Amino acid sequence: MRCIAETAPAAAIGPVPQARPAATLRGFRPSDVPFVATIVAEALRERYDPGLYGSLSEEWPDGFLVAADARDVPVGFLLGVNQVPGEARVLMFAVDRDRRTEGIGAWLMDAFVERSRRRGFRRLTLEVRVSNATAIRFYTRYRFSVVDLLRGYYSDGEDGYQMARPL
Ligand SMILES: CC(C)(COP(=O)(O)OP(=O)(O)OC[C@H]1O[C@@H](n2cnc3c(N)ncnc32)[C@H](O)[C@@H]1OP(=O)(O)O)[C@@H](O)C(=O)NCCC(=O)NCCS
Repeated sequence: MRCIAETAPAAAIGPVPQARPAATLRGFRPSDVPFVATIVAEALRERYDPGLYGSLSEEWPDGFLVAADARDVPVGFLLGVNQVPGEARVLMFAVDRDRRTEGIGAWLMDAFVERSRRRGFRRLTLEVRVSNATAIRFYTRYRFSVVDLLRGYYSDGEDGYQMARPL
């Protein structure tokens, strides 16, 4: 499942609309891995094999969205996968600590919802730490609701909630 070949750079989705944060939304590139891994380590308190990002992006490249700053450095990302027919799952979602509450998270989620709809998915799912009140509030505003309690789901033993919403 490791990413061996460099994939072609994904095209930028377009210029930033006026109401959007100072960033560009584009697809994932293998050169993003160190930046994405740094955001993950700080924001999600999990560490993954660096090869995981490339391999997960291969099946559904459009499901991996990156928000990049003016120097094209990733400042946030949403990695979505399609493991269950008709469903997209938000596997990882985080914004750099210094760039939160600027609207980058909402921008990523809006684009992901739109892409999932276009792909014909009927439902979105995700998992979140039970202690992560900020993310739970964010998801609730995006019409996700808790559908299951996942005991000891995280590597440090914390419970998770599975949340879902229809599309
Ligand atoms: C959850 C997360 C991705 C949101 O990203 P973000 O870029 O800060 O979110 P936005 O700026 O788009 O905020 C969207 C809305 O949530 C609100 N919000 C975001 N963070 C908030 C906070 N800490 N406190 C209060 N409200 C907050 C914003 O005010 C905004 O509301 P508005 O639309 O009325 O203005 C970000 O907090 C994060 O990376 N957290 C750590 C990683 C994480 O928990 N990921 C989810 C794991 S499942």
